[in-house]
Parts: sequence; C-alpha cells; structure tokens
Amino acid sequence: MTVPLTDPATWHGPHVHGELPGPRSADLLERQQHRESNARTYPRRLPIALEQGSGPWVRDVDGNVFIDFLGGAGVLSLGHNHPELVRTVTEQVARLTHGLDFPTPAKDAFIEAQISMLPPAMRDRMKVHLCGPTGANAVDAAVKLCKTATGRGDIVSFQGGFHGSSHAAMALTGLVSQKQPVPNGMPGAHFFPYSYCARCPLELTPDSCATNCVALLERSLHDANGGVPAPAAVVMELVQGEGGVIPARRDFVTRVRELTRELGIPLVVDEVQTGCGRTGTWFAFEHYDIEPDVIIASKALSGIGTPVAMIFYDRRLDVWAPGAHTGTFRGNQLAFAAGAEAVRIVRDEGVLANVRARGAQIAHRLAGLRDNPWVREVRGLGLMWGVELAVPDNGAPATDLAIAVQQHALRNGLIVELGGRGDCVVRMLPPLNVTQDVADTACTILVDAIEKAAAPLVRTAGHEPAVRQRRGDGAS
Ligand SMILES: Cc1ncc(COP(=O)(O)O)c(C=O)c1O
Repeated sequence: MTVPLTDPATWHGPHVHGELPGPRSADLLERQQHRESNARTYPRRLPIALEQGSGPWVRDVDGNVFIDFLGGAGVLSLGHNHPELVRTVTEQVARLTHGLDFPTPAKDAFIEAQISMLPPAMRDRMKVHLCGPTGANAVDAAVKLCKTATGRGDIVSFQGGFHGSSHAAMALTGLVSQKQPVPNGMPGAHFFPYSYCARCPLELTPDSCATNCVALLERSLHDANGGVPAPAAVVMELVQGEGGVIPARRDFVTRVRELTRELGIPLVVDEVQTGCGRTGTWFAFEHYDIEPDVIIASKALSGIGTPVAMIFYDRRLDVWAPGAHTGTFRGNQLAFAAGAEAVRIVRDEGVLANVRARGAQIAHRLAGLRDNPWVREVRGLGLMWGVELAVPDNGAPATDLAIAVQQHALRNGLIVELGGRGDCVVRMLPPLNVTQDVADTACTILVDAIEKAAAPLVRTAGHEPAVRQRRGDGAS
C-alpha cells in the first residue's frame, strides 16, 4: 500500500479525522501484529502507522497530522527531515556510506565537531570510540573500557535508571520486568537510590533531607563491611529519561563526582537521551559544573535519525587492546556527515538558546497543572518534560490516567510518551528547534488532555486540590 506524499506546507496544524487507528493504519497494524515480535512497543499505545514527517509534524497513512513530541524517543533533535540534513545525507550517500573504522573526511569532521562541543577544558583530555550504532552498545563499550582500565568487575548504577536492552545495559537498568525473564544477566551490578524527591526512596521530605540518597552511596563505598567491592565505574543519568524525567539534584551529582574522584572510580554519564542539546547545554553534566570521565552519546548525534553511538573518555583510560570493542556498523558515514552538519545548525541557528526559551515557556504553560490533585509533579530540564500522575489518596502511580491522557492527546493531534514508575509520567521530547507556536499548541492539548481525563476522577473522589509539598518542580 503506497500513500501519496503531501506538501507539508499544507499541514496547518494538528489534524485528526475520525477514529484512531484509521483504516490504513489498522491494516498495517494488523499485518505488524501478525508478523512482528511480541516485544514491539510503541504502536501498542500509539496505534498509528507513520508515513511522512516534517519538522515537528508527522503524518500517518490515513492523512492525520500530529505534533510529534516523541520524536523517535529523542532521536529527531532537529525534527523530521531537516532540509539541510536531508541535503547533507543525500550528498554523502552518493559519495561513501560505510567505512568500518577507517578514517574518512566525514568521520574526521564529525569527531572534530563533537569534540568542539565539549567544555574547553575537556577537549584535549578526551578520546572517542565509535561504537555499534545504539545507545546500549555504547553503554557496553563504556563498561568494558572501565573494567579493563581498573581491573575491577563491579558497577554501581541507580534505581529507576534506563541504559538500554542489551545484556550489560539491561543489567544496569532499573526495570525489573525486563530483567526478570532473562536469568544470568551481567553480574556485579549494584543499585543505589537516585535523587527522586517526588517519591523519595528513603521516605524523607525535603525539609528533613540532606541528600541522604547519596549519603547511602558514600557510606556503602567507604564501609569495609558494606558489601560492594570498589567498582569499575559509577554509571549515572543526569536526568533520568525513561525513568520519568527526573533531573538529579545538584548536591547529588556534585557528591557523586567528589566520591568517585576520591576513590578513583571512573564516573560514566549516560547522555544518550540528555545529550546533544536536549537540556539546553550540549551535555547535561554542564548544568552541574562537573567533569565526568566517560560520556555516552547516541540518539540525537546525527540529528536526523541516521544511527551512530560513541563514547568520549579520559585518555588515561585508553588501555584497552586493538579490537576490544568492534562492530561492523561503526562507520556510518551518513550519520557522520549529518552529525557534523547538525552541530553547525545548532550553533548557527542558536538552537540551545531556543531549548532554554521553549523550556521556560513549557514550564510556564504547565505550571497551572500543579493545582490538579492527580498531578504529583511537573518537572523538566530544557526540552525534556514530564508530568507525573498519582492517585491523590495514596500516591500510587496513576497508570490508567496516564494512558487515558496519552490517548486523549493523540486523538487531538499530539504524540507523547509515557515513562517512570508504572508508566505514570506523561513525557514530552519536542524537537530542539520547536517554535513558540507549536510548543504552545502542544501544551494546550496536553493540559486539556490531563484536565479532561482527570475530571471524572476528581469529581468522583470529591478531592480538594492537593496540599502537598511540591519541590524539585523542574530544574530548568
Ligand atoms: C539514557 C539512555 N541510555 C541508553 C539508552 C539505550 O539506547 P538504545 O535504545 O539506542 O540502545 C536509552 C534509550 O532510551 C536511554 O534513554
């Protein structure tokens, strides 16, 4: 079934006609269900078949046009089919597409561009390794690098974190449901609490807390009877993305950095989702004034979805042998060409400033949601936003409500993702060059979806607006 392309200039806004899925989408979804794996995910809750994208818009095969704030799970940092990236990739495809790990002008320009985006003090200190083209593969590479360099076997990770679905990355991920059916994962992973104040893992409240989550890590690693051998690495997200858009508290990050430095443990920051401008700085660690030892980057590196992943690491760690982390698809010239061009666009078009401005706009637009008793917290950094929904009486994750909000938003032309405990956080990952108008329309749809989906619940339970301590409501 082919559907003619239309001119995106005629898409004047979100537009959904009739029931979802439309008949063509329903047909493709049925074929998918018959032939593809039971492990497929997104179309289960977003029942559409995609046909064409342009900037923040995506059109399904039935002609419905949506604002896409899922954006390929954060891959499409400059929206769908940015014309200059399309031109760059088209030129490169006629020149050279695959290069293993040979040097090429496209790769050289890409690495040059990436290093130029690091804080100046880090540029000479860091080396890079191009990995197999997924975030999980780069996580594996970082773990292997640190194990090799330290001769240690254990890794510290944080509850609620997500690092990918390969065996090693999954071992460092919080998601028990993904790990449970797959015994014998990578051994030596130790989980510590993350600074998730809305659901404090230590049941403290902000006024009684001295960032005790990180204190637990400090004590455990200093305790000769603490059970955790000196680890090869501490692996951390600065904003847990899949975990529900949780920006780490500044004190938490600073102390993790001090601790790892004191004990000679490489600090690995997983910037697969937060990297490449998503939070308003090129990498999220810049918000916290720390310098990590290893940075993992992938998703938005090319800006247009051509896959690529890499690690940056302190050159003192560069003791692994030739062939220590190979992979046939480590030389994607299309991604390299696009990635260098994406950096140019980000610089020339002031994209990071736009991320900060649109982030502030979204914060302002969503602030009123805090009066809704089903909204536990609104939080974000740059253009990573989440609205956590919880049952007012007992704080349980309001999973059904979050699903209803996602469905409501979809029917009104906005694609959003769910994440966090019990999938109770409605998440937005807009393109970094999103306009004020589109961000505004999306916020209107989201606020309306939450209000409409929660209204019967509020009425039934007769709740007063929540009187809760609301702290950490966005670090932006
Ligand atoms: C922080 C983080 N790390 C790693 C990954 C895994 O990346 P990939 O799905 O490309 O393997 C993800 C994916 O969402 C992520 O958000």
